[in-house]
Amino acid sequence: MTHIAVLGSTNMDLIAYVAKAPQRGETVTGREFRTLPGGKGANQAVAAARAGADNVSMIGAVGADAFGTQLRSALEHSGVDTDLLRTVDTAATGTAHIVVDDEGGNAIVVIPGANGTLTALAPGDEGLIASADTLLLQLEIPVEGVLAAAQAARRHGVRTVLTPAPAQPSPSSQLRSSRGYPIPPELLAAIDLLVPNEHEAATLTGITDPHAAAKALLDQVPEVVVTLGARGSLYAARDAEPVLVEAPHVTAVDTTGAGDTFVGTLAVALTQGGSMPDALAWASTAAALSVQRPGASASMPYRSEIDNEANGTAS
Ligand code: RIB
Repeated sequence: MTHIAVLGSTNMDLIAYVAKAPQRGETVTGREFRTLPGGKGANQAVAAARAGADNVSMIGAVGADAFGTQLRSALEHSGVDTDLLRTVDTAATGTAHIVVDDEGGNAIVVIPGANGTLTALAPGDEGLIASADTLLLQLEIPVEGVLAAAQAARRHGVRTVLTPAPAQPSPSSQLRSSRGYPIPPELLAAIDLLVPNEHEAATLTGITDPHAAAKALLDQVPEVVVTLGARGSLYAARDAEPVLVEAPHVTAVDTTGAGDTFVGTLAVALTQGGSMPDALAWASTAAALSVQRPGASASMPYRSEIDNEANGTAS
């Protein structure tokens, strides 16, 4: 049985599709508007469930409003357990205001709302984390909540995977001088695998070369995967040679949530005993499928689709 727990954000994504994103002070006419489920935490939970985890549990918070009801039901529809997704009456459901351009790139403003209430574990959270094989974490909720969950996972020997997104610059631009660093050292100390994209890796370390940034990050965590978008992903570990896995070549229509697809799928593959190179290739295939469809969670592939694509039997 594969049990993945996720602590993180649940957002309603309000997406404007437009040829080219507006500059400051500019108004442009878009082509289409969609309201679709998102949030980095919920996205990773959906990706893991669709990739074939036996059990996926979401720890998070939504508001007592229509978006909250819709997001809970979307998670359940994808097979995610929402028993510990709380409904709070002190804040609205989180929203993400997204502009997607014709190259599939995006710009996002997140209004955290209920996600901002996740500053500590609630009754039942630690027990659930303890029963999981892997805990997935991101930085779209208060870092205090992320830290509490990571330390709980550590206490119970549960593998922790942190996506350091959204990344914020280190005041010193040097991860090694960690005083004041936006990811507290005690959080990194409780992380087994860090999965930044190349921009996040550069923001965290002040180093633009992904290989060198990954190497610097190994001072803080034992394993790192830097996602390189269309170029694939780079794995680095303290005691192994780096591995670069290429991504399939596809035409992207919407890259929103591609990183979340990658992480959720990667977690399933690793938890089910796959080797790191195979897991990276499978996760890359899933992410490549997702960018060819609109939306974040809505674009995520099911296990059979990933397998068919990976085996070259997709229709
Ligand atoms: O990672 C993609 C997600 O970031 C979107 O779904 C949006 O909600 C933002 O949180």
